[in-house]
Amino acid sequence: MKTALGHEIFQLVREISRTMDMKVYVVGGYVRDHLLDRPCTDVDFVCIGDASVLAEKISERLPGKPKVSIFKNFGTAHIHSSDWDFEFVGARKESYRSDSRKPDVEPGSLEDDQLRRDFTINALAISLNDNDYGVLIDPFGGVKDLENGMIRTPTDPDITFSDDPLRMMRAIRFACQLGFHIDENTYAGIRRQAERIEIVSTERIKDELNKIVAAPKPSIGFKLLFNTHLLDHFFPEMVELQGVEERNGIGHKDNFYHTLQVLDNVAELSDNLWLRWSAIMHDIAKPRTKDFNDKDGWTFHGHEFVGSKMVKRIFRRLKLPLNEHMKYVEKMVLLHLRPIALTKEVVTDSAVRRLLFDAGDDIDDLLLLSRCDITSKNERKVKYYLQNLDKVQQKIIDVEERDRVRNFQPPVTGDEIMELFGLKPSREIGIIKNSLKDAILEGIIPNNREEALKFAIERGRELGLKVVNYS
Ligand code: CTP
Repeated sequence: MKTALGHEIFQLVREISRTMDMKVYVVGGYVRDHLLDRPCTDVDFVCIGDASVLAEKISERLPGKPKVSIFKNFGTAHIHSSDWDFEFVGARKESYRSDSRKPDVEPGSLEDDQLRRDFTINALAISLNDNDYGVLIDPFGGVKDLENGMIRTPTDPDITFSDDPLRMMRAIRFACQLGFHIDENTYAGIRRQAERIEIVSTERIKDELNKIVAAPKPSIGFKLLFNTHLLDHFFPEMVELQGVEERNGIGHKDNFYHTLQVLDNVAELSDNLWLRWSAIMHDIAKPRTKDFNDKDGWTFHGHEFVGSKMVKRIFRRLKLPLNEHMKYVEKMVLLHLRPIALTKEVVTDSAVRRLLFDAGDDIDDLLLLSRCDITSKNERKVKYYLQNLDKVQQKIIDVEERDRVRNFQPPVTGDEIMELFGLKPSREIGIIKNSLKDAILEGIIPNNREEALKFAIERGRELGLKVVNYS
């Protein structure tokens, strides 16, 4: 295991802490990532003494003398310097009250400080002191756990998780992000303490959840969240997806595991967090639209509509952004069956134009989601659908080249139609606008201004309108 420290900050801290006669160590995530060869620009320093005085002196020597932000309550000081974040904290013992995650802080030794940390792999420290500079201090077997890929609390997991219940999600997030296992005793602690997640703020839960969604194989994290019952507390709609019902010997697929398979498929092809969220949400309404009849067996009619309506409520509750990202997820959920539906019929130009019009620039993401949604165990079936989707994709390229409807704007605007007939906004104007859009998408008239004007005039006359201004 290497422990050499590359950044000049470490020499600077060594030099200044020597003049203050203060012991300082690098600790936590930076040491873990350094040993794992992962990039990390957040460095935590633990000092046996006043962290803010040390931070002020360090800042004096950094380019541009960056501002030191001091958080008195937590005894921490923070410096941001050319893309790096340095956090200085006095070593402490910590105890949390059961009804909150605000700790009562007391000064302590380095070992006290390591013991209060979440996992052995995050409790490693490297000395910056002259007598043992660069030496790794590993009282809880963190290096062994790093080598064995193990997430383990340094002390009784019930204490660690009860102190800060977010750590249960962090355990799962690290397991998922790093491909590690959670130690059996630690895992049992999560199951026992799962209910305590209720005292954690939604923002913190959301940040961890997004890290799980962004991991290389997010299903690992979601299965752990499900099996430990943490998921019940903040995402019950996803829990409801699990399970198979049978009637007359006919079962449907388990939509929880199907959703996770779709999510992993998307994750293999795209880092787009919101496309990954679309995969999570695509079948979210299946439990509430589920029905059975003798003729069709299990049906989930309208789950795409109901699902797209559920997105906003779930995003609001999870404090996910209610902006264009949410709209994108709503759109993906609403449209997710359309490309596959196209493969089941003769693919007409107008059906492709409508899909292009509805999906706009997100058409490629939608096709990717469609491909990832094919999760049958029957390889021939998968191949068949994928080949059909290839055909749809080719057709989309052809139609798009010819008609350019991806970001379709009718060549005659609503304002122009109003001017043409000398009218204010009205039902008739709406009808003309819509039939003009439909005529172009259906291929009844070509997508150009002259034909569109002619069509609008004709449609207006049918509605009994007179042209008053034609230029
Ligand atoms: N820590 C902890 N309990 C928490 C959060 C953090 O014990 N709930 C400790 C761990 O020692 C952790 C360190 O504080 O390594 C720094 O925390 P943070 O910067 O939030 O996380 P990292 O471990 O650095 O990892 P990441 O940046 O991936 O979140």
